[in-house]
Amino acid sequence: MNTLHSIAQLRAAIARAREDGKRIGLVPTMGNLHAGHIALVEKALQRTDYVVVSIFVNPLQFGPTEDLESYPRTLAEDQSKLLDAGAHLIFAPNVAEMYPGGMEGHARVSVPVVSEGLCGASRPGHFEGVATVVSKLLNIAQPDLAVFGQKDYQQLAVIRKMAYDLCLPVQIMGEPTVRAADGLALSSRNGYLSTEERRIAPTLYRTLKQIAEQVQNGRHDYVKVMEEARLALVQAGMQPDYLDLRDALTLQPATPETREMVALAAAFVGKTRLIDNLCFKVN
Ligand code: PAJ
Repeated sequence: MNTLHSIAQLRAAIARAREDGKRIGLVPTMGNLHAGHIALVEKALQRTDYVVVSIFVNPLQFGPTEDLESYPRTLAEDQSKLLDAGAHLIFAPNVAEMYPGGMEGHARVSVPVVSEGLCGASRPGHFEGVATVVSKLLNIAQPDLAVFGQKDYQQLAVIRKMAYDLCLPVQIMGEPTVRAADGLALSSRNGYLSTEERRIAPTLYRTLKQIAEQVQNGRHDYVKVMEEARLALVQAGMQPDYLDLRDALTLQPATPETREMVALAAAFVGKTRLIDNLCFKVN
């Protein structure tokens, strides 16, 4: 399993795999890989013959006060995990390779409406940065399939809409969230948590489950349900950023007619911002 750093090298390697008749899978990541990322790689390995994993901490999707500098960069460990998983190729470009003319005048891909609200409201420009880098990675690798996690629910919706609207010739697949035994969604940012913060953090998922239970039991007073959930987070020592109930398919606000729902939340534990979501059906 090679690690390539240049777009030209990557294109040449993929062209060779294609000549051998292989179907190409791509798993875009920012590295510091955990079992959630590896599950995406395993799915890509099931569905395609040649799996490329990109590792790139994309500055364009970080806000000025966010954790771009401190984001964990662990290439050697990531290489060993991907070797074990059976991935075929790592693409690990540097910033100059991806943004040779700098970022300021770089073309941007924006996906209105679905990028607004939720994380889009708290992180201005974030989804434009994500859509731009993912469209570049898709254009560079030209995979048949690209696999993403449902943990970043709005991100997945943005990427699906981008691929659909721009007629990108790729299948976008979303995979379920991999969690720790206590329910906390695996995330590279969990590494920032102190022992005490790590103890509190599973409240986020527990609260989402409580929301789902209440709504499935017939409560329609969503504003009150969400207010109670917010209080539960605060009482546990978290600072909620947003808590919302949406239509799982459109991401529009849920109404009493909505059957497939998603509860989404972002909250700070200390300085660390965690996100999670839970899809559920209502009869
Ligand atoms: P990153 O946070 O590294 O995540 C890479 C992929 O892994 C994303 O599709 C994300 O949804 C998925 N993922 C993260 N935690 C997961 C978990 N616990 N279970 C299942 N999947 C999980 O998301 C990004 O990077 C970037 O925004 C990227 C798409 C690479 C663009 O820069």
